[in-house]
Amino acid sequence: MRVIHVSAECYPMAKAGGLADVVGALPKYQNKMGLQAFVVMPMHRTSYLIHHHWDTVYKGSFSFGNQTIDFTVIKEKANELGFELYCVDINGLLDRTQIYGYDDDDERYLAFQIAVLEWILHSQMPDLIHVHDHHAGLIPFMMQHCFTYKQLSSLRTILTIHNAQYQGCMDWSKAKLLPAYDEWKSGLLEWNHQINSLACALKCVNKVNTVSKNYMLELMNHANGLEHLFQNERNKCTGILNGIDYQVWNPEHDESIQTQYDSSSQEFGKLENKKQLCFQFGFDENLPLFIFIGRLVFEKSADLLAATIETAFEKFGKEFNFLVLGNGESKIESTLTSIHEKCFGYYHSKFEFNEQLSHQMYAGADFLFMPSRVEPCGLNQLYAMRYGTIPMVRNTGGLKDTVIDVEQENGYGITFENVSIDEMVLSIKRALELYKNSPMVNLLRKKMMTINTSWEKRTADYTELYDSVI
Ligand code: GLC
Repeated sequence: MRVIHVSAECYPMAKAGGLADVVGALPKYQNKMGLQAFVVMPMHRTSYLIHHHWDTVYKGSFSFGNQTIDFTVIKEKANELGFELYCVDINGLLDRTQIYGYDDDDERYLAFQIAVLEWILHSQMPDLIHVHDHHAGLIPFMMQHCFTYKQLSSLRTILTIHNAQYQGCMDWSKAKLLPAYDEWKSGLLEWNHQINSLACALKCVNKVNTVSKNYMLELMNHANGLEHLFQNERNKCTGILNGIDYQVWNPEHDESIQTQYDSSSQEFGKLENKKQLCFQFGFDENLPLFIFIGRLVFEKSADLLAATIETAFEKFGKEFNFLVLGNGESKIESTLTSIHEKCFGYYHSKFEFNEQLSHQMYAGADFLFMPSRVEPCGLNQLYAMRYGTIPMVRNTGGLKDTVIDVEQENGYGITFENVSIDEMVLSIKRALELYKNSPMVNLLRKKMMTINTSWEKRTADYTELYDSVI
């Protein structure tokens, strides 16, 4: 079976969040299982692009409103990722350093999707097109209802939703950029008087999955306006939990960390990594170390982080260290900066995307704090567990499916229900108490490190989903 994954991100070529990790791992494991899976994405101007060699495999053009757009498809030459990686280049639209955040993102991703279909139409056809999130969400509609792509209309399609908060909504005036389509079907493009790419994908694909079962249940009631649509389409919806790439996330062989370790040497290994990390940030290595890694946005409850840390220091004294890594909204960054002085020596925040430092933090920390308001799956808690770092999570989305509270049978983490400073501070209190019981901490670390969260385990669920539509 030949499967094309269409995505805005793919690790290591370009990453803004967990989407990249999933699209950079799933096809690799699918190929190992005998499928022929590959990825197509925009040719963002990243350092991976610059440092690798590429072959041009296709050149084409299409009409885009009253313009003609030329595009090129290139392929990574060394084929070193475990899957073929194709990138679409469109001068003036996709030749940017960032993945998102431009005023013309609607036009950029519309043109990307049309180019992908043009390329598929004129090259070897796959058996299945797997689109990820709204940036690829209009592809199923175009395949079925744009006259030029009639030949593709019988290909099967799957949509994976990594985050339903973002839906790719645009004004109806953008419809003129689409290739000519059957006007009788324009209702499929619409939700709430706008073109809504995610809603359109939901209506047009053969099957939909989100990245955890619990998040799919939540979407039936809260989906940023799409809940009725999820209810209508519930028969084709399912949840498949993400895995993590054990080749990238493995403390036994991780070259980004100072001391490698496994579940039997974790006590020594984690301590060595902690010492190194504490030295780097001027922390006392004898105190418990909490970390937060992620985008500094409302969805991740990053707006409450500074107040939570400050309150916990006030209530419990300078009994712990807290390190924050991530970037996002400048307002949130400034609240996190504002507590630097007060918490000096015990707290630090670094506003950047730093893959290597994140590995060192998972290895050296005692607790990962993840109070997300919305978390479709969450990968960070899985990385933390793999590195023996105790997850402290809000009971939502995929966090609920992957973290069991230590008070429950087979538990290993700390969970809480509500996004409130009080509950978050209380979870820190529970962690501080747990930390004093080092035999228990060791036991929990060992337990977490041996839980199988690999893609090998999850890939079979995707194969089953594909089989159900082919
Ligand atoms: C998004 C979600 C996250 C999920 C990831 C990969 O980033 O916010 O929860 O794990 O996609 O599916």
